[in-house]
Amino acid sequence: MATYLSGITPSGLPHLGNYFGAIAQHIALPARGGEHFYFIADYHALISSRDPVELRSRVREVAVTYIALGLDLERATLFRQSDVPEVCELTWLLSSVTGMGVLERSVSYRDKVEKGIPASVGLFMYPALMAADILAYDSNFVPVGVDQKQHVEIARDMAQSFNAAYGETFVLPDPLLSEHSKVPGLDGEKMSKSYGNTIPIFETGKPLKKLVGRVLTDSREPHEPKDPAGLLLFDLLKLFLTTNELAEWAERVRSGGSNAPGYGHLKQRLIDAIEERFAVARARRAELLADPAEVERALARGAAKARARAVATRDRALRAAGLR
Ligand code: ADP
Ligand code: TRP
Repeated sequence: MATYLSGITPSGLPHLGNYFGAIAQHIALPARGGEHFYFIADYHALISSRDPVELRSRVREVAVTYIALGLDLERATLFRQSDVPEVCELTWLLSSVTGMGVLERSVSYRDKVEKGIPASVGLFMYPALMAADILAYDSNFVPVGVDQKQHVEIARDMAQSFNAAYGETFVLPDPLLSEHSKVPGLDGEKMSKSYGNTIPIFETGKPLKKLVGRVLTDSREPHEPKDPAGLLLFDLLKLFLTTNELAEWAERVRSGGSNAPGYGHLKQRLIDAIEERFAVARARRAELLADPAEVERALARGAAKARARAVATRDRALRAAGLR
């Protein structure tokens, strides 16, 4: 039976990139069988967070997002990373057998340093902690967006180093990329909390209108024929519309003339689609935010299950290395 595991860092409101690149897959996969672990990476969030009150609320927001969007808690284990402190022990065991070069090659580390984000030891160690997360549950598949692919490869390298030193201890994981593995943001770059170009999943009403209003367009008039393939608005509409409806809009944009929609029309269609797609989940989210005890109960149940698994892996690794 295959094991699937993934995590999301609670560093801001979950957005459409997180949804289409990761969360939608996490919610769909459990129906296919296998074991499923999804967690809120609060240890990882510590690298950039300095506000405890805000961090607590972001953790709750991610948990609420999963439950509101319909994660089946009978088939999937939802938990908080820090409820399984064994991952910190595993981080050390794995780091001890890993060459510096493996982490130095991390693209996301180098990108962040280039952007001027202060390079803490935590930022450098980020992929090692993520490797421990993945290996603690004997994960076979890690459903993530393409930006996390290299981290899964690092986890694989670290598992191989440990296994080479001490014999078969860790299962080698593979990334599982979603078909929407790089959703663009308002400016056409990858949608990301760190770029300030996101549309939060549950945004609605005026704030949603304002955000979609910022989607980058150009100054061409509605009647001018355009190639829809080059329009950022189409890349976003593609996530929501049926193939038929998308083809109709594309045809009208391509032909131009008096029947062609302007960017304002396309934006309005996008707003309506977002409002509609998440309407049920938005209502459920409001209920859950009003009842934090229900969310805490779900996380506590998840933590117990996840921890039992991680303890077994940790014990195996301690024995293999001679600490027990
Ligand atoms: P962010 O870049 O906003 O900080 P995270 O790094 O917390 O997002 O990503 C959480 C999950 O969502 C990861 O699996 C990541 O690959 C996926 N993801 C994030 N942004 C996008 C995007 N723009 N398109 C597709 N997937 C994404
Ligand atoms: N680094 C991931 C992100 O920012 C979150 C994460 C932490 C993760 N540990 C993981 C994802 C293990 C998959 C598997 O999105």
